[in-house]
Amino acid sequence: MVDANGLVIDDAENGVFRYHRTTLTSQEVLEAERDRIFEKCWLYLGHESEVEKQGDYVRRDVGGRPIFFARGSDNQIRAFYNTCTHRGALICRMDKGHGDVFQCFYHAWTFNNRGELIGRPDEAGYSEGFDKADMALRSPRMESYRGFLFVTFNPHAEDLSTYLAGAKEYMDLMIDQADTDMRVVAGSNKYVMKCNWKLLVENSIDGYHLIPTHNTYLEYMAGLGTKYGPNVRRWSRTLALGNGHSVLSSEAINGKPVAAWSPLYGEDTKEEFAQKRQRLVDRFGEDKAWLIANATRNLHIYPNLIINDVAGTTVRSFWPTAPGHLEVSAWEVVPGEEEGRALSRRLDSFLTFLGPGGFATPDDCEALESCQEGFLCDEVQWSDISRGMHEQNPKGTHELQMRSFWRRWYADMTGKPRFDTGDSIPVREDRTREEPVLASDDD
Ligand code: FES
Ligand SMILES: [Fe+2]
Repeated sequence: MVDANGLVIDDAENGVFRYHRTTLTSQEVLEAERDRIFEKCWLYLGHESEVEKQGDYVRRDVGGRPIFFARGSDNQIRAFYNTCTHRGALICRMDKGHGDVFQCFYHAWTFNNRGELIGRPDEAGYSEGFDKADMALRSPRMESYRGFLFVTFNPHAEDLSTYLAGAKEYMDLMIDQADTDMRVVAGSNKYVMKCNWKLLVENSIDGYHLIPTHNTYLEYMAGLGTKYGPNVRRWSRTLALGNGHSVLSSEAINGKPVAAWSPLYGEDTKEEFAQKRQRLVDRFGEDKAWLIANATRNLHIYPNLIINDVAGTTVRSFWPTAPGHLEVSAWEVVPGEEEGRALSRRLDSFLTFLGPGGFATPDDCEALESCQEGFLCDEVQWSDISRGMHEQNPKGTHELQMRSFWRRWYADMTGKPRFDTGDSIPVREDRTREEPVLASDDD
């Protein structure tokens, strides 16, 4: 197995952070990542709202395994390995559906939606000592954080809440936009990228590629009367949240479907937005309401989950199929109570920027695939993410959030003790908007 020692340079004294590009191109590194990262961490499975009614089920691939989760007739949600305990065939063969039983199509063993084996052909062909309970569907360990379901294949993993560390505060800011609970809109976006999975982690929390990479979008938005542009200064910051999680948070200067009005949404919606915002202030006070409604969040939950709470709220997880290839699944989450015009406005806003055919995703795809192509030049060996390493007050244009990811990656890959800092600031959380850090996207 690969020795990852020396693949990351974290030189606090000189403010230099680099990683070797074989981390993005090597098959051996990818195999080690599967073993040392994906087999050990909590991985996103889905959302409770996807199995709203008893008998609902959803099929998914997580951590290289076929899995499905179902709400049983006892109302409990369970995850199952999608393999028949008889001789292995996939039990759940639809991406989603509803039913009381799952019958294996190979030899017709039948399981209920709690996973118990309840029938098979030729019952008399089995001896009395054969215990049917032994042959129930098997389950990975699953836990929920406020409706977001995660699984782990590591029996020794810490509980999910501990694992999520400071990321929970930022999930709360996203979830608390709902009067009730968040729910996933039916359907998903699936696409592939010809690049290493870690490039998408970086890109999803990169705070300063907006102007050069997404120029078309900015021009389009400017044409609609928004304030986007190179000289607009706004509050923004990056934070390491512990355990390799991090966030890039910025002021939503062009509105946010939660409750921050912008001309994009139309003059006639002003009152509706003001009422929504007031409800947030009543519930949480002005500071937290501001963070929920007026700040965006690009939250990375180590290793492969991104929650973007921006023009819409999207949950995106991805899986590396090769060093230079990944599969992405993305879902839109919305406040459970939202419907009608507000919902279509939000979905519009989401698809315009974040959808696979929107303004942002194809640009990002092009940028990341271009990096991967550049890695063919073996002679150029290191990539750099040192920006802001010496600063006390990291701005959204700094790279602290990526360093936090790579530090955890390096610790997992080498077995060295975990270290989250190396920057001049400690890992910390930020719940207020004190000490505003103003920066334009290109400064
Ligand atoms: S493999 Fe499922 S019944 Fe035989
Ligand atoms: Fe982007």
